This record gives sequence, structure tokens and C-alpha cells, in this order.
Amino acid sequence: MGEIISAGRRARDLVTQILNFSRQSPEERQPMNLSPLLKEALKMLRSSLPANIALNLNITASDDNVMADATQIHQIMLNLCTNAAQAMAQTGGSVEVEMADADGGGPVPPRDQGKPEWFVRITVRDDGPGMDAETMERIFDPFFTTKGPGEGTGMGLAMVHGIVKRHDGHIIAESAPGKGTVFHVFLPRTPSLERPRTEPLPQLVFTKGRILFVDDEKALVDIGKEMLEGMGFEVVTRTSSIEALEAFRYRADDFDLVITDQAMPNMTGLELAKEMLAIRPGIPVILCTGFSEAVSYERIREIGIGDFIMKPILRQEMMEAIGRLLGEVRPDLMASR
Ligand SMILES: Nc1ncnc2c1ncn2[C@@H]1O[C@H](COP(=O)(O)OP(=O)(O)OP(=O)(O)O)[C@@H](O)[C@H]1O
Ligand SMILES: [Mg+2]
Repeated sequence: MGEIISAGRRARDLVTQILNFSRQSPEERQPMNLSPLLKEALKMLRSSLPANIALNLNITASDDNVMADATQIHQIMLNLCTNAAQAMAQTGGSVEVEMADADGGGPVPPRDQGKPEWFVRITVRDDGPGMDAETMERIFDPFFTTKGPGEGTGMGLAMVHGIVKRHDGHIIAESAPGKGTVFHVFLPRTPSLERPRTEPLPQLVFTKGRILFVDDEKALVDIGKEMLEGMGFEVVTRTSSIEALEAFRYRADDFDLVITDQAMPNMTGLELAKEMLAIRPGIPVILCTGFSEAVSYERIREIGIGDFIMKPILRQEMMEAIGRLLGEVRPDLMASR
């Protein structure tokens, strides 16, 4: 059983990565780890660069979780590194890529963009011929190029600039003739996706109570019901958010806790939670999200949702979330029946 579970976890992680790399729609920003992405992008680049250009990666960032669109980050790396390699085409040289904490020294984004600790900094450095001030002023302009007709479109850096701006990030260029060129790209870190760490509870303090469990997939409802009943709870299930809301409206005070899926037809888990919280403020709600609909902890807290867990639902995580939420509730406030 242990093997099956760890194989399942590996599969989940693999799917996450594949989704990261293959995501097509342009504006899809997801929490993701930058390191594997940079490694992959550089591996691809290396095979296309001439032999006289070296490409090195140095990762020092303590936390590489950013809100980003993987495909677009790929594009940024491709453009910056290609430019650097092209600048050194005659002489040869090395392109140095670095990923660091923006608050760990070195350049930071302008103050009005936010605190340095909110950003990860990706630096692409070359020791090519550099640029004069006149060129520097125009590098981000669409169609600006110093390359011959047919050699460059001049769209590379314009695109990079657009992508960085759409990511709420910032880009800085430093260069001078004969001094090489450096681009710093700042990307915002994921707003704490992780819930604040609390001591894991060895045992549930409360194993009594009535839980409303909602998921549009019958199989998951069955598993959830069994899991929760195994812990000692009474479980009411619904496979439609509309029906779940009806059941809740009918006897809101009979439930101690609601566990709901996020992605459901007609009404999402977030919307359902909002409606339920309007009916009974303070009802503990746990939102279960899949990879593609990751919601930040801050956002669900804002709505008033107690906690969230990522699918697939693991017994331990479920138990911790319930323990945290019901542990906050005084026993005398538990629904009476
Ligand atoms: N690392 C660099 N070193 C020196 N000059 C650079 C560097 N990166 C960009 N430039 C200058 O900025 C100009 C604009 O770059 P950009 O990537 O937007 O277009 P391009 O490289 O000319 O064309 P394309 O990207 O379509 O091949 C370049 O033509 C070049 O003059
Ligand atoms: Mg270019």
C-alpha cells in the first residue's frame, strides 16, 4: 500500500510538471517552481547555441515559487539568452544565468513595485560588446533592431518586456560599450500558497459532528464519505453544488463543517462557500482544489473559507485541516441535534 501511495504521489507531481510545460493558453499564471523550468529552458537552448558560447546556470534563491506562465517564462529565457549569444557570436564567451532572492543583495525592483522580498530575480549576463546609451533607450521598442535585414525582427525584447509586465514583474537592463550586458528580470513570488505551518495534530480532537461533503464526481464523494466516517463523523453528501446549497439552506445549523470541491458545473466551490457563509457566517469550510484551479490561501481566507487542501485528498491532510478548523470551534458551539 505504501508503494502504491508513493507511486500515486509521483504521478501527481509528474502531471503537475507536464501541465506546467504544455499549458497553451497565454495568460495562465500558476504557482510554480522556477528551478526545473530554468534548467529545462537552458538545456533546450544549449543544443541550439554555437560551440563557442557557454551557458551556465547558478541558482541561489531560497524559494523559487512564483506566479507565472511556464510557456512565457520559456520565451523570456529564450530571447535573453539568444540575444546574449548573438552579441558574442564573433568573440565567443559565456552567458551566465542566475536566479537569486531579490532581497539577498544586488539590484532590486523600483520601490513602487513592491518589497524586494516579494520577488525572485533572474539575471542574464554576457561579456559581449555591450550597448551605448542611445541603443539602450530603444531596446524595448517593438521592431527596434541593430541587426541586418532578415536577421532580427526587433520584437524579442519588446515581447520580453510585455511578458514581464503582464506578470506584474519588472525588468532592468545594464550595459555600456565594452562592458557587456546584464538583464535582471523580477518575478513576483507566489502569494503564500502554503498555509501557515501549525503543529500537526496526532489525533483529531473532535471526531463527532456532521459534515456536508460536496464533489461532482461520485467516486470521490464515496471515498470522502468513507474516509470521514472512518474518523467518526456523520457525513451528508451531494454531487451537485446547487443541491448542496439547497441541503444547507434547509438545515444550516445541523452541519458542523462543509468540505467542497472547487471545480464543479453551475456553481464553483468558492461561490458555494460564499453563499453558505452568507446563510451561516463562520461555518467552517474546506475547499478542495485540483492543480489547475489553485487558489491562494490569502484569497480563500478573504472570502472566509477556513482552509483548503490540494487534490488528491490525503487522509492525513484532511485530518489536519479538520482538526485545525474544528479545534478553533468551541464544543458548545457545535451544531446541536
Ligand atoms: N545582450 C545584448 N548585447 C548587446 N546588444 C543587445 C543585447 N540584447 C539586445 N541587444 C540590442 O537590442 C536590440 C533589440 O533586441 P531584440 O531582441 O528586441 O531584437 P533583435 O535581437 O534585434 O531581433 P530578434 O529578437 O527578433 O532576433 C538588438 O538588435 C541589439 O542591438
Ligand atoms: Mg533578440
